Amino acid sequence: MAARTWIERQGELAVALKTGQLAPLAWMAEVERLAAEVDPAELMAEINRAKITLGALLPTNDPRKRSIRFVDQHGAPRKMGFAAALFDFSPSNVITPHGHRNMVSSHLVVEGAFRVRNYDRIKDLAGAMVVRPTRDYLASTGMLSAMSGDRDNIHWFVPQGGPARTFDVIISGIDPAQPDYEIAAIDPVGGEVLTDGTIRAPIMEFEDASKKYVATL
Ligand SMILES: [Fe+2]
Repeated sequence: MAARTWIERQGELAVALKTGQLAPLAWMAEVERLAAEVDPAELMAEINRAKITLGALLPTNDPRKRSIRFVDQHGAPRKMGFAAALFDFSPSNVITPHGHRNMVSSHLVVEGAFRVRNYDRIKDLAGAMVVRPTRDYLASTGMLSAMSGDRDNIHWFVPQGGPARTFDVIISGIDPAQPDYEIAAIDPVGGEVLTDGTIRAPIMEFEDASKKYVATL
């Protein structure tokens, strides 16, 4: 599939999700399937024609974000139905485990490889989330990781050497009556394993998570 068509398809899926025509789990299945349809190098060439804005350096060990605005043939920004970004990881950058509300996202590896760990979000407690480990795998270039409220809501990305990069599609405000999105870091490694195999993982500050969840963990 041409990269431009692939990006259009992401927009169609985002609109279908937001209008309720596509359930979050179905959206995940579609973007996972779509990942195999594009050549990451061709996608990057298309992205490089967009307007790219470098994000601020964060106090945490997060990768640097570059926001992408796709433009039309006259250079005017286009409304795509989703937010797009590149995340550029040095070998020591980590996206530490965190959960999300009222948003979905997909992360296509466009350079390098990542160890990806996911957890389902089973229950919310005061100051903690009860989570169940679902995935722990190596995502190489061309592979995609997706999350929603219904599956794999917690994700954790560790680059395998570097540089490594993901192209992210982010759709927030799924329920317009709720806050646009909410993101909270958790500590599954330091959590309490419950009798059913789930983990009571304390919510933590992203700054603290960044100190604990280094690339060797
Ligand atoms: Fe996230």
